[in-house]
Amino acid sequence: MNVLVLGSGGREHAFAWKLRQSAKLGQLFIAPGNAGTGALGKNLDLDMNAVQEIVDAVNRYAIDLVLVGPEVPLVDGLVDELAEALPDLKVVGPGRSGAQLEGSKSFAKDFMRRHQIPTAAYREFGTDDLQAGLAYLENHALPIVLKADGLAAGKGVLICTDRAEAKNEFEAMLEGKFGAASSKVVVEQFLTGLEFSVFVAVDGSNFRVLPMAKDYKRIGEGDTGLNTGGMGSISPVPFVDEVLREKVMHQVVLPSVQGIVQDGLNYRGFLFIGLIEVDGEPYVIEYNCRMGDPETQSVMPRLKSDFLELCLAICDQRLNQHLVEIHDEFATSVVMVSGGYPEAYEKGKPIAGLEEVKKSTVFHAGTKIEYEGVVTNGGRVLAVTAMGSSLEEALQQSYKTIDRLDFEGKYCRRDIGFDL
Ligand code: AMP
Ligand code: GLY
Repeated sequence: MNVLVLGSGGREHAFAWKLRQSAKLGQLFIAPGNAGTGALGKNLDLDMNAVQEIVDAVNRYAIDLVLVGPEVPLVDGLVDELAEALPDLKVVGPGRSGAQLEGSKSFAKDFMRRHQIPTAAYREFGTDDLQAGLAYLENHALPIVLKADGLAAGKGVLICTDRAEAKNEFEAMLEGKFGAASSKVVVEQFLTGLEFSVFVAVDGSNFRVLPMAKDYKRIGEGDTGLNTGGMGSISPVPFVDEVLREKVMHQVVLPSVQGIVQDGLNYRGFLFIGLIEVDGEPYVIEYNCRMGDPETQSVMPRLKSDFLELCLAICDQRLNQHLVEIHDEFATSVVMVSGGYPEAYEKGKPIAGLEEVKKSTVFHAGTKIEYEGVVTNGGRVLAVTAMGSSLEEALQQSYKTIDRLDFEGKYCRRDIGFDL
């Protein structure tokens, strides 16, 4: 079976790494991929948002299954268009209707309200409701959470501790701060608690829960400073005990999947549910229509059962017959970034030490091959994943490996898992 993975980050490298372990795998293609995926399969230089380029690659390389990594092509309807062009192709990823759970905050909030899924209280305002929105903000408790309705490259959520700032930002958003993505704004109650994520494989009616994980989003230690694409992840999440897990299953996962079925959403793929625990109760912060990055880099190594079999069960709607087996061990993934990230940074720095790595798996993100060597090619460069019988043991190993890897300007957070 020939497989094409779409994307170029650490998540896609982790998919490729896990797919490689499947006896069912024939040829593996990654588009566009990175230096890490190129060592596991063939990188294809194509635009993953251009449907015809994907259709051509599927025909040329006799690809049987496409796994879509990032959200943008999903929200743009790639899966629907592939289904039209290539009815026999198996595709892992929701169609346009299902991807709205990530593509529109307003849609997601309405979905949660309809299906009684616990989430922060909210109101939404469009460009015609500016005055009503400002009046609403006048009486809203602080801090105030403002969310652009549409995709804004991870920058569309603002948490304002100051009312005047909230009003200014609200107005700027409705006036196009994030383009069409903020022509509608969701104003949400601020929730305080520990965040974690659950990943659910959905085949349109059946589902399977994958290991839970927690990611670290801020650039600075102690979760301070600017937001990033993710500085590290751990799995499992120690504070999610049996009681909380049961609540997550019954109050969030089940009604979410039932909601997808009842609403007739096209969903054969991974549903990422971002949660926050408030006084022992789970609340949904967000849905994503794909796996997380860098959570996938600690979730895939914990998956004992075959990942390609899981993808096939999703496509063939037989997840009810598929057994997901999980390793008991902890997995930790620490991200190494280019100095300056998430603001300006340099690229093209040679990376040393990759060949000597032992007892860890190094997933590439922003890397490429230049003159036979691997060089940096992005802000987030590598995610170093290790396993251990405890969180501490896994973290120690991740950091041991990081200390042997080098590139000019390298930076990582030294405190992944610090809050647990
Ligand atoms: P998102 O871009 O939707 O992932 O949101 C970014 C981050 O904002 C989340 O990971 C949370 O840390 C935070 N956040 C979003 N909504 C809330 C909320 N209602 N209360 C507190 N924090 C929130
Ligand atoms: N780690 C958060 C995300 O993938 O959106």
